[in-house]
Amino acid sequence: MHLQIYRHITAALLATLPIIATIVPLISCRPTSYDAFSFTRSELNTYKEEVRDLFQFGLSKYLEVGYPYDEVRPISCEPKTRNFNDLTDLPTNDVLGNFTATLIDSLTTVAVMGDKNQFYNLVELVRVTFPNKFEIDATVQVFETTIRILGSLISSHLYATDARKSCNLLDMGYDGILLDLAKDIGERLLPVYLTESGLPVSRINLKAGFERYSRLQMNENNLAGMATPMLEFGMLSLLTGDRKYMEVTRFTFDRLWKQFRARTGLLPVSLDPHDFTIYSFATGVGASADSFYEYALKGAILFDDEELMNIWEESYKSLNANSKLDWFYGNVNTMGVNQVLPWIDSLSAFFPGLQVLAGDVDDSMMKHLLFLKQWDYFGGIPERWEFEKPMVNIVNRDVRGGFRKETKEQGSGGGGGGVVLPLPWYPLRPEFIESTYYLYRATKDPFYLNIGYRILQDFKYRFKFSCGFAGIENLLTDQRQDRMETFVLSETLKYLYLLFDEDNEINHSRDNVIFSTEAHPMWVTPQMRHDYEKNGFFNDDKYCRNLQKCKKSFETIVNPFKSRNEIMRQTPRAAAGSIDIWPKLENKRICPVKFVWSDNKFGEQNDISLPYSDILTNYNRLFEIDYRYSDVLIKPPHLINYTSIELESGFYEIWAKKNNGDNNANMKNICKPKPTSESFEILFDIDGPYDFFKFENGDVHCNSLKTRRKWRVEKIHVGDYDVFGRIVNSTQFVNANRQDLTDKMCDQYLSRCPSTLYRLSVIDGYSIPEGGRVTIDRSQLMAANNDPELRNVYAQFGYNTDNQLLLHCIPFTNVYLI
Ligand SMILES: *[C@@H]1O[C@H](CO)[C@@H](O)[C@H](O)[C@H]1NC(C)=O
Ligand SMILES: *[C@@H]1O[C@H](CO)[C@@H](O)[C@H](O)[C@H]1NC(C)=O
Ligand SMILES: *[C@@H]1O[C@H](CO)[C@@H](O)[C@H](O)[C@H]1NC(C)=O
Ligand SMILES: *[C@@H]1O[C@H](CO)[C@@H](O)[C@H](O)[C@H]1NC(C)=O
Repeated sequence: MHLQIYRHITAALLATLPIIATIVPLISCRPTSYDAFSFTRSELNTYKEEVRDLFQFGLSKYLEVGYPYDEVRPISCEPKTRNFNDLTDLPTNDVLGNFTATLIDSLTTVAVMGDKNQFYNLVELVRVTFPNKFEIDATVQVFETTIRILGSLISSHLYATDARKSCNLLDMGYDGILLDLAKDIGERLLPVYLTESGLPVSRINLKAGFERYSRLQMNENNLAGMATPMLEFGMLSLLTGDRKYMEVTRFTFDRLWKQFRARTGLLPVSLDPHDFTIYSFATGVGASADSFYEYALKGAILFDDEELMNIWEESYKSLNANSKLDWFYGNVNTMGVNQVLPWIDSLSAFFPGLQVLAGDVDDSMMKHLLFLKQWDYFGGIPERWEFEKPMVNIVNRDVRGGFRKETKEQGSGGGGGGVVLPLPWYPLRPEFIESTYYLYRATKDPFYLNIGYRILQDFKYRFKFSCGFAGIENLLTDQRQDRMETFVLSETLKYLYLLFDEDNEINHSRDNVIFSTEAHPMWVTPQMRHDYEKNGFFNDDKYCRNLQKCKKSFETIVNPFKSRNEIMRQTPRAAAGSIDIWPKLENKRICPVKFVWSDNKFGEQNDISLPYSDILTNYNRLFEIDYRYSDVLIKPPHLINYTSIELESGFYEIWAKKNNGDNNANMKNICKPKPTSESFEILFDIDGPYDFFKFENGDVHCNSLKTRRKWRVEKIHVGDYDVFGRIVNSTQFVNANRQDLTDKMCDQYLSRCPSTLYRLSVIDGYSIPEGGRVTIDRSQLMAANNDPELRNVYAQFGYNTDNQLLLHCIPFTNVYLI
């Protein structure tokens, strides 16, 4: 099975995020210097300028050595070009179209950093580089070319023409050259949509179109690749008035959603655009799927589009119900909820940023932590990381493939084969810093600034070479790649800069600014929208006819993936290690062993007034990942002195608040013990409308079980640590009421106190808080039903005189029928 890797990224609706004034009051009297980790304005300014210098270094080396080719090789100081000799070298040639990719992709970073002269000069350089526009004999991937080239040209054109932007070129005689080029490349890419289905093929030759094309390269495309050009092409329509770009690409987006959405609400990621063969039913939020979700939400914001917002909301709900685990979204089977791939990829690190944009900051913080821990242990985000526990606790160091676990069973890894890092590289991708940026904007917790600070140090001391920044080929051996992908300058350093630049004009925009998946800022002004509505046209016969034909043929298609497998399934423990449920472990606090308070450097007078990091101080699961995944988070020898970012001395001492002013209070106090209770899951798959009402206090109400719904149920016993870290005492067992009002069979247990009770801990991805209750409509649950299957399900449940739900005569302590 071949899954193409698509990189993915995201960004924000900055204007809507809460903005709080700067941080440490006591430093404001020292404007020209700062104490490290105080994160005052002047400290942030220093970092911001350091990021600018790094960016300028990378860009100038590219211009000196790499231009007019696509990239510069950072170590050997040569251009990195398209593979002109072997056109089948797709990983290289998909992205490198011999079109000065680094130059074009970097334009918007210059604009964001606000250097008008440089922006002007680079735009002029683009002009002289493309006298024949994109008449280039290169077969490229449409998705990559859209996000890197088309997206940057559009965003740069917005900067050049918006009088409110400090980089606007209106007074420099700007003539729209960037939009001309955008239109040119848009025209060259768009023919991939001229298929019978309207679903695009993945590649095209910029000069020759589909001549010299082999079917082999045309029969697979993935969800992200097909769906996402909608955003950049939609912008092209808004700017040119030509509706075809938007309508053609949007039809694809809608068709994918309607035709391939399975009963789970999820879409498969790899399929044939001609005959709809599904190549992979695995689906997650990383490679090949990522920007489908991203652009549903960002498209909704940018185009003020309710339909896209509905798609986002439905998708997010489905992801939460089917794929969400405590610390990440798993790769599940589109047709069910089985974990099918025991790994996550680095591209999925963008998702916490998207969650911030969607307003789900709490869960975003949790999901982001897993990537922080990866950085702590591996010094970067591995392209692919296996979270499944090795079968045997022996770890060898395999220089080429990563840490190889000796497993008793062969091929347990589903593509990884028992290797912790099946794909051990980190090409300096932006997703983790991008999410960090969003979370900082939303929370203002210096925890996130400190992550940026560490990444800045890594850029200065670990990634920088004579001609740019080198990606890491193998995080475990520290072997480097002689390559700097264009996203290093266009995204990674842009987000790092913006993290430190609280005053950036992007923050002041009144429009709904979003970052494209390649971090190119996009916005639509009311004037643009008005002009488009008034003057938009669609007069290209070829596309018009094809679109009509596609729409017509689509009317007769029935979505084949909506059928149901099982009506209710109970999973004691799904496939080994694949569910993020704690195994039975000895009682242990989940804290780093060494961490004890020490005096902070500001001395006593600041003890009370000093602000603190909320995560560092109050979040009692901060070190849970270290323990939960201790067998797959392993520090390679060369990083043995590399401190965990959150424990960096200096930072930790300043920002972790002392408990109750007790200098010796041990941080262990806020760390939650490992749960020792077991859990299982129940999947209901019954026809019915989705209902889920969440109340202010965290309680949940559902009318019935009649829908598609997943429960995680905690089995509690006296003496267990439960999921909240509390020891379960006998009180609730003594009082347990097993008098089932619907099923006399339970009466035989009445005299005995149960050894197990149930607690509903997660419903459709939502974790019910301590003390929280779930209520279900009694009449609906107990109503006799003509469907014998359904009756069988309901027969397993009952309720007692306290109105608690019973399953097989065991009460749920927090589920009530009302
Ligand atoms: C690639 O670009 C370079 C520089 O613009 C140009 O000299 C060369 O002819 C191009 N090669 C091909 C095969 O198009
Ligand atoms: C960001 O923009 C908002 C709204 O324009 C403004 O109130 C706030 O002061 C800005 N933040 C900074 C740090 O400039
Ligand atoms: C780690 O630090 C120790 C003590 O400073 C030093 O001797 C050792 O060489 C360092 N190891 C690495 C891999 O940098
Ligand atoms: C038993 O646990 C309950 C809830 O966790 C708690 O309120 C109660 O104080 C505990 N009782 C004893 C005797 O520890």
